[in-house]
Amino acid sequence: MNYPESTGGGEHSAEKILHTIFENSNEGLLVIGKSGVIQQVNTTLAATLKTSPSKIVGRQLTEVCKHNGLRKLITVLKNGIPEFGKIDSIDGRSFLADYIPITNNKQIQGALAKIIFLNPERETEYGNSDGVSKRKRHSRAGSTVVYTVDNIIGNSPQLVDLKETLLKVAPRNSNVLVTGESGTGKELFAQAVHAASLRRSGPFIKINCAAIPDTLLESEFFGYEEGTFTGGKKGGKVGKLELANGGTVFLDEIGDISFSLQAKLLRFIQEKEIQKLGAGEAKVSDVRVVAATNVNLEHLVKYKKFREDLYYRLNVVNLCIPPLRERKEDIRELMHCFLDKYNRLFGLRVTALDSQVEALFKRYSWPGNVRELENTIERAFNVIEGNIIYKEHLPSHIASLLDGEISGAVEETLHRENGLSLPLSDGQTLNEIVNQTEKLVILQALKNSKGNKAKAAKLLGISRPGLYKKLVKYNLA
Ligand SMILES: Nc1ncnc2c1ncn2[C@@H]1O[C@H](COP(=O)(O)OP(=O)(O)OP(=O)(O)O)[C@@H](O)[C@H]1O
Ligand SMILES: [Mg+2]
Repeated sequence: MNYPESTGGGEHSAEKILHTIFENSNEGLLVIGKSGVIQQVNTTLAATLKTSPSKIVGRQLTEVCKHNGLRKLITVLKNGIPEFGKIDSIDGRSFLADYIPITNNKQIQGALAKIIFLNPERETEYGNSDGVSKRKRHSRAGSTVVYTVDNIIGNSPQLVDLKETLLKVAPRNSNVLVTGESGTGKELFAQAVHAASLRRSGPFIKINCAAIPDTLLESEFFGYEEGTFTGGKKGGKVGKLELANGGTVFLDEIGDISFSLQAKLLRFIQEKEIQKLGAGEAKVSDVRVVAATNVNLEHLVKYKKFREDLYYRLNVVNLCIPPLRERKEDIRELMHCFLDKYNRLFGLRVTALDSQVEALFKRYSWPGNVRELENTIERAFNVIEGNIIYKEHLPSHIASLLDGEISGAVEETLHRENGLSLPLSDGQTLNEIVNQTEKLVILQALKNSKGNKAKAAKLLGISRPGLYKKLVKYNLA
């Protein structure tokens, strides 16, 4: 950026102040003039475009930003309507942008783009030889987050919506409540909120409220002064809410904290003050709270087990992660991601899942959600010999389901239907008889093909989706 020398305004001329703000901002800033020429850009933003301000000032924005979202600034320049909180990317790095027209006497003179990068040091690797270390983000306080939003796998509409909401709310500092069944990825989301927030270089401190006995939890939260307890540590203990100053505290299993601790936590959230046990003076700690639970907090509130006021304070933004069975579209991508991860970890080259197993994965209800899917794949890697995961590599409770769903169901129905002899009873319409015959023939084809649907469809001379429709019709899917 090229600023003319101050014209007599002295040390604190508005221009110098503006220049300092512009250059030292954590946000990327770019200004274009009426004709779309870049007039000013700070180093933060230029660096992202892999250039320096002096190389792009004076050039057309459309020419410099051929392939990224910043071109939206031209639209704002043309229509004069500001756009806030837009999520876009440059070279795969997500950013949150405000595009604002600059006017003078109601005439548009130019436009300003303000962008915040959500993952400053991009980390797209998912899994590696030690599982996490390469992906760890070391913060000033030494605490780490492993995951960013890029590590959240899944493109189902529900997950895409959630990721968008996450990116929108992360920079805004409000408390977040992450809910979802066990294994849906609550901790992953909590970390991603921190990584996409402006606090990302501050600490991320986790407290597992269910793992620590209630009597110790208060000192875990607030710390204590030396001499408060017999057997307490020399020098006392710094509480996690104090350690998290400038960052995020992740309160996992928040539904498990006692009523009395709930009151203290509420006070902390309202006042931002920490009262160490045994200490006189309170200290201020600037912490964002991200809490998670797999219990229904509204029920706890209803039955007076959880304070309503605290619930509302925590639940400013709710990220509710649906169970895997409600977003089966994500299974395939997750599967491949875990294959890659465990291939690296085990030094193997497992390329795929057998089609029967893959189909079963899509039907299975995954009560343990993504964690169960990952564990199932990891288990298979421990017993596999070739390159494909077959039924025999699955845990027995899942593998037996495969037997049950195909040959078992077929056998049983055939038995019940008394083989292929057609009972022609009074009152049956032709349609019913045709349906019954069709069902029996399908069952026979499945039996002959040992449950392989592609083969059964071939035997019947129909397409696989056609067969699937009929299986659904006859409750055989
Ligand atoms: N969308 C996802 N993409 C990639 N990995 C995921 C995803 N969701 C969950 N996982 C993985 O599944 C495992 C369980 O996730 P996590 O620990 O975040 O679940 P949780 O909801 O906190 O479970 P719990 O309630 O049991 O504590 C982790 O290894 C996590 O990395
Ligand atoms: Mg968890």
